[in-house]
Amino acid sequence: MLYRSKIKGLGFYVPDNIVTNDDLSKLMDTNDAWIQERTGIKERRHALKGTETTTSMGVKASLKAIEAAQINKEEIDFIVFATLSPDYYFPGCGVLVQKELGLPNVGALDIRNQCSGFIYALSVADQYIKTGMYKNVLVIGSETQSPALDMTTRGRNMAVLFGDGAGAAVVSRSDDAQKGILSTHLHSQGEHAAELAMITPGVGTKWVPEILAENNPDDVSYYPYMNGQFVFKNAVVRFSEVIEEGLKANGLTRADINMLVPHQANLRISQFIQHQFKLTDEQVFNNIMKYGNTTAASVPIALTEAVQQGKIKEGDLVVLAAFGSGFTWASAIIRW
Ligand code: UT7
Repeated sequence: MLYRSKIKGLGFYVPDNIVTNDDLSKLMDTNDAWIQERTGIKERRHALKGTETTTSMGVKASLKAIEAAQINKEEIDFIVFATLSPDYYFPGCGVLVQKELGLPNVGALDIRNQCSGFIYALSVADQYIKTGMYKNVLVIGSETQSPALDMTTRGRNMAVLFGDGAGAAVVSRSDDAQKGILSTHLHSQGEHAAELAMITPGVGTKWVPEILAENNPDDVSYYPYMNGQFVFKNAVVRFSEVIEEGLKANGLTRADINMLVPHQANLRISQFIQHQFKLTDEQVFNNIMKYGNTTAASVPIALTEAVQQGKIKEGDLVVLAAFGSGFTWASAIIRW
């Protein structure tokens, strides 16, 4: 028998440390007007060194999601953790969450799909639940991106965009066949891997000792790289495609959408999609103004806030969509 899975509880956590556009303009040649006009971002959060990690923020978000789901943490059967900024190169953050939450020795899986990471993770959880293997899967997206950013004018196109934070969902078996995750749709196109990537440190061309030995402060290969305009152009196309694909798979149309929660990459991307799908301001949830782009954490943070603000009601058709490094892109169609 196939089961249906549903999002039973949500939670998020962001660091207290608010970094405004004006704060950044003291470090690099940028300004509030440029950032707001091109991205919609007003401020973002940066983790405090030594106190917050991708795992610790993921744990805080998880505890809130577990509380919202009204289950005991011991009822969690499996962990799926999405991040591009793990505490260690290996092992992944999933096992660290298992330890920190004091869960019995449940399985933990890490997902490496950047901005689409949470939707990929949700899809994994959905499959495990549908087949009856697990009842409650903890799905986390968490990022500590600020330490890797080039906080000088050289890195301004990325430094102003990205923020830190975590979101989590408890995905559970549901008896209601009409509600829950209807379908998920996942894609990749590795030929564009280098258009938004962090090549070093770690695998690939250089290992850390080599980098340390070279230690050339002008070597920008330490930092993530993004071909912003190319990524933007691909994002708007792939967002549209994967939302359409999800609607079609369920015999739905754009008129059926009650709430679109897009990955928060750039307000202009969200507005483009909103316009294309003829959605009202009330039908698209955006919070990039407050948090910037938190990559794998962005969809669960936005979804949590949308629910907390009463913008999603039982029976609503909720569409999640994301695009990012890989390239990877994905959507989830949910009857709430
Ligand atoms: O989540 C993963 C997916 N990521 C995305 O979807 C991001 C997609 N890309 C974008 O959001 C946009 O391309 C950016 C926000 C990154 C850049 O916006 P843009 O409108 O594409 O600007 P641009 O790269 O064409 O740059 C325009 C100008 C350039 O100056 P010149 O060459 O015209 O003199 C840049 O050097 O703006 C300059 N610039 C900045 N100026 C002030 C770039 N970054 C900044 C900055 N502050 N932070």
